[in-house]
Amino acid sequence: MKAKMTLAKEFKIGDIDKRIYGSFIEHLGRAVYGGIYEPGHPEADEDGFRKDVIRLVKELNVPVVRYPGGNFVSGYNWQDGVGPVCNRPKRLDLAWGTTEPNSFGTNEFMKWCKKANTECMMAVNLGTAGPEQARNLVEYTNHRGASAWSDLRKSHGYSEPWDIKLWCLGNEMDGRWQMGAKTAAEYGRIALEASKLMKWTDGSIETVLCGSSSRNSPTFGEWEATSLDIAYDSVDYVSLHQYYENRADDTPSFLAKTLELEEFIYTVICVCDYIKAKKRSKKTINLSFDEWNVWYHSDNAPYERWSMSPPRLEDIYNFEDALVVGSMLITLLRHCDRIKIACLAQLVNVIAPIFTQTGGGVFKQTIFYPFEHLSNYGRGAALNPIISCPKYDCKEFDDVPYLESISTFDEENGLMAVFCVNKSLDENMVLDINIMDFEGYKPFEFISMDGYDKLAENGFDKCPVIPHKKETPKMDGNSMTVELKPLSWNVIRLKKI
Ligand code: AHR
Repeated sequence: MKAKMTLAKEFKIGDIDKRIYGSFIEHLGRAVYGGIYEPGHPEADEDGFRKDVIRLVKELNVPVVRYPGGNFVSGYNWQDGVGPVCNRPKRLDLAWGTTEPNSFGTNEFMKWCKKANTECMMAVNLGTAGPEQARNLVEYTNHRGASAWSDLRKSHGYSEPWDIKLWCLGNEMDGRWQMGAKTAAEYGRIALEASKLMKWTDGSIETVLCGSSSRNSPTFGEWEATSLDIAYDSVDYVSLHQYYENRADDTPSFLAKTLELEEFIYTVICVCDYIKAKKRSKKTINLSFDEWNVWYHSDNAPYERWSMSPPRLEDIYNFEDALVVGSMLITLLRHCDRIKIACLAQLVNVIAPIFTQTGGGVFKQTIFYPFEHLSNYGRGAALNPIISCPKYDCKEFDDVPYLESISTFDEENGLMAVFCVNKSLDENMVLDINIMDFEGYKPFEFISMDGYDKLAENGFDKCPVIPHKKETPKMDGNSMTVELKPLSWNVIRLKKI
C-alpha cells in the first residue's frame, strides 16, 4: 500500500512539556521492594537502590515519576514511612491485600529520584485521610524555615527541603475499589480544600484533580464537570487514566484503540473548557494523563494474601503491545498543547517496561523501546503531519488509518524525528514524506522494530524483540520514501546538515 505525509514548520501543535514522558512507581507488588530498592542485591548501592535499574530508568529519560500510588495512596499515612526505619510500623495495605513494611518512604524515594535524574510527582491520601495530612506533607517536604513538620524532616537527616512541585489530589476517587471512594461533589470539596491548604503552605506547587478512573467509568464526564466546577480555582490539571487489553485476540481492534483514546482526550478537554466558559474564567485547566499502558496479561495471577511485596500485575509484554504503547504515546503527543504530564504506568515490574528478578538480573520488555525512542528523540515541538493513507474496518472500529504517526522538531538542536506505526498485519507501506520548509534537514538514522511474531516476548534468557537500524533513506529534493514493514514501529531521525 502507498501513503503520503507532509510536514511543515507551521504544522506545530505545541511545545512538548518534557513531563509527558513521565512514569509511575507505586507501593505495589515488586515495584519498590525487589524493583528500585533491594538492599543486599549485588547491584545495590549504599542506599539499597538497584544500580542496574537506575541505569535503565536513565536510558528511558523519565523526567517525572508519580509516587506512592495509585490505589495504595488512598490508605497511606506518609508519617509511617519517615524517621528511623526500626520505628516504622508494618501496615496492612487494603488496596492490594499485602503487608507494607514501610522500610522505604518519602525520603528514600526523593533520594532515589535524585540518583535516577528524575523528579517526583507526589500523590496525597484523600481517601482515608484529608487536607490536613496533605498540607502537613507539603510542609514536611518543602518548607525551608523552622516549623513542626520541617523540623521533623531535619531531625530525620534532611536539612534541605525536597521542593516537590507537582501534587496529585488523591487517586481514582470515583472507583468503588478505592479506599474512601467519594461522589464527585464530595471529592470536589475535599480536593478544593486540600489544594487550597497545600498551596497556602507552598505557593509554588501545582495540583492535579482526579478525573474518572477511565473512560468506561459510569460517572465519566459528569464526574469531571462536577468536581472541576467546585475545585476549578485552586487546581491546575485534571487527570486521565486508561489501560488497553487484547483479550479477544483481535489485533486490528487492539491497534485501533487509539481512536477511542483520541475521543477520550477530546472529551476531557471539552469538559475543562465548558467549566472555563461557565465561570468566564481566564484560567485554562490542562491534562495530566497520569496512568496509561497495556494491562491484562497478569490478571488473576495468584498471590499470598498479606505477604510482603509478592509479585503482582507482572505483565510480560509482547510485540503487539509495544506497537500499542508506541501508538498511545503518539496520540498523547498529538494533544501536547493540552496534555502537559503523562505517566506510563508503571516503571518497574508492575505493568512495566523494566523487569527484574529479585536477587537476579533485569531485562527490557518490548514496550521499553517505543517509549525510549519517543522520550529521547521526541523533544521540542510536536508537528501534526498531514497524512493520506488507506484505512481499515475491524470489529470495534471503522475507518482506522493504517498509519499512526507524529513528528517532532527540536529547533534548538537542529533535530527532527518522524515516528510511525504501520498497523497492517500483512502489507508493506511505501510512505512518501515531504518535509516542505525544513531546508537542509537530512535523515541520518532509521530505526525499526519489525518482522517479529506479534506474540513474541523478551525475558531473562533472551530478548529477541529489539530495535534494529535500517538503511538511511535518501532525500530527493524535499522528499524521501521509506518502506514500513507490516506490524512495525519506525523512527526516522533527521538533522540539519
Ligand atoms: O497502576 C495500577 C493501578 O491501576 C493503580 O493503583 C490504580 O490507580 C489503577 O486502577
